[in-house]
Amino acid sequence: TRVAILISGRGSNMVSLIEAARAPDFPAEIVLVLSNRPDAAGLARAAEAGISARAVDHTAYPDRASFDAALDAELRAAGIELVCLAGFMRIFTPGFVEGWAGRMLNIHPSLLPLFKGTHTHERALEAGVRLHGCTVHYVVPELDAGPIVAQAAVPVRAGDDADSLAARVIVQEHRLYPAALALVASGRARLEGERVIFSGETA
Ligand code: GRF
Repeated sequence: TRVAILISGRGSNMVSLIEAARAPDFPAEIVLVLSNRPDAAGLARAAEAGISARAVDHTAYPDRASFDAALDAELRAAGIELVCLAGFMRIFTPGFVEGWAGRMLNIHPSLLPLFKGTHTHERALEAGVRLHGCTVHYVVPELDAGPIVAQAAVPVRAGDDADSLAARVIVQEHRLYPAALALVASGRARLEGERVIFSGETA
């Protein structure tokens, strides 16, 4: 399975996917990294890992639809079959998302459906939850609302601030995303309508 990773920033989840995909038995190959920000640190990290990495600068396009069309053209030209969003901070047009339905994943730093959107660690602390974590889900037009492939939980500890909690969650993100990608790329998880079907699961 030919995979592209879309980033906007440092790309630590991207690195975890690239490293996992180096294993000979991993069912996916990372062939392309795209960033909407030319200054994203992750672009250099991808290039160092020998992956083709380019910026598609959203500020160079007049609107979301033309930016999405440019991304789509890059992905299709590279023969991409599955897209992984990893700290990609742009909202897509519904048309772009529909074009990749069942073939685009995102990682979100909360136990969805709690805390969609940004500042998830601050909001988890504010809400007083004792469990927090991360979620890999299929991307649908509504933000952070798609069917869930995998989750990992961490405890919230006394004295946590957003940084200490984020540090505990990101360790799990780096483990969870490669595992979820392997499930999807191997066909052991697939989207059927609005449900994720796991192989071996009957209903
Ligand atoms: C991660 O916490 C991811 O879940 C969130 O943004 C952060 C990106 O970090 N959406 P990185 O760029 O993968 O290091």
